[in-house]
Amino acid sequence: MPESSAARSAVAASGLEVDLGFLKLRNPVIGASGLFGVETGNVSDLSRLGAVVTKTQFLGTRPGNALHRMTETPAGLLNSVGIPCLGVEHFVDVEWPLWRHAGCPVVVSIGGERFEDYFDLAERLDALPEVAALEVNISCPNQAAGGLEFGADPRDVERVVSGVRRRTLLPVIAKLTPNVTRIADIALAAEAGGAHALCAVNTVLGMALDIRTQSSRLGSLRGGLSGPAIRPIAVRAVWEVAQSTRLPVIGTGGAESPEDVLEFVLAGAAAVGVGTAVLYSVRQVERMPGDLRRLLSEIGVGSLDELRGSLRQSRLSQDVTAG
Ligand SMILES: Cc1cc2nc3c(=O)[nH]c(=O)nc-3n(C[C@H](O)[C@H](O)[C@H](O)COP(=O)(O)O)c2cc1C
Repeated sequence: MPESSAARSAVAASGLEVDLGFLKLRNPVIGASGLFGVETGNVSDLSRLGAVVTKTQFLGTRPGNALHRMTETPAGLLNSVGIPCLGVEHFVDVEWPLWRHAGCPVVVSIGGERFEDYFDLAERLDALPEVAALEVNISCPNQAAGGLEFGADPRDVERVVSGVRRRTLLPVIAKLTPNVTRIADIALAAEAGGAHALCAVNTVLGMALDIRTQSSRLGSLRGGLSGPAIRPIAVRAVWEVAQSTRLPVIGTGGAESPEDVLEFVLAGAAAVGVGTAVLYSVRQVERMPGDLRRLLSEIGVGSLDELRGSLRQSRLSQDVTAG
């Protein structure tokens, strides 16, 4: 049964609110890009979430990658969906009117194969009513750089983000790839480009091979790993990013319980993206804000603000490179 508006305002007054500066969320649970479609609202109450991010939109149509697009691994999902897309005009005319009824702030994710794609998309979406923010997916392959992700080069990151900022008044979230040597450098480049917030992280590059057919288990060779397998990587990335920039960070990667959400907050996250967990149980994700409230009181913490950044450094934990 849907939560009443009275119950929802009780959540809002319970220490779960998040102020990203440009956007206030009633709780920190954000539906991550690519896992929530407008149709998700038919089977769950999206208004219980703090916000939701659309799957990445491109200017034109994209067929997506060859099958198979997903394969299970021991603790995560490897995907090579390739972000199929019907193009921005379809999004504006058909999808956005439905998204506007989600009942929570909706962030639109944008991607591109060239720098100009990002800029043109930002300008096109700027006029859309009620877009909460743009999330810039810089994990897309840059055609001009032989397929290297935009997000792998700090100069490209600054160029994408600053170009998007110039073409829209909407707040801009830069979504970082974990597939880099020093994610703090990338975060600083996004900050220099004018990002209002950062999301860390997108999927971790991986491969899964079938020894009997001597081929990839996916239609492409490499895919993106998500789910619990990447949570320690994501928590570490959030901590490094939060230490190096003053921007709010949306921690994303393998969160599937209220405990996981608080782990990200302890590492410095302002809010937490939940993606793959929705494939196991959309209900569990929907219940997370309520469960979080109970968990906070169980561990004797009054609010997320109280927990954020309160990580105690032990002598051993200072040695971050220890094997
Ligand atoms: C099937 C699938 C599709 C995804 N599509 C997108 C996408 O369109 N844009 C994007 O920025 N991230 C996309 N992601 C990445 C997620 O938003 C998230 O960053 C990543 O999966 C880690 O979080 P999780 O472990 O909670 O899923 C996708 C992930 C999966 C598994």
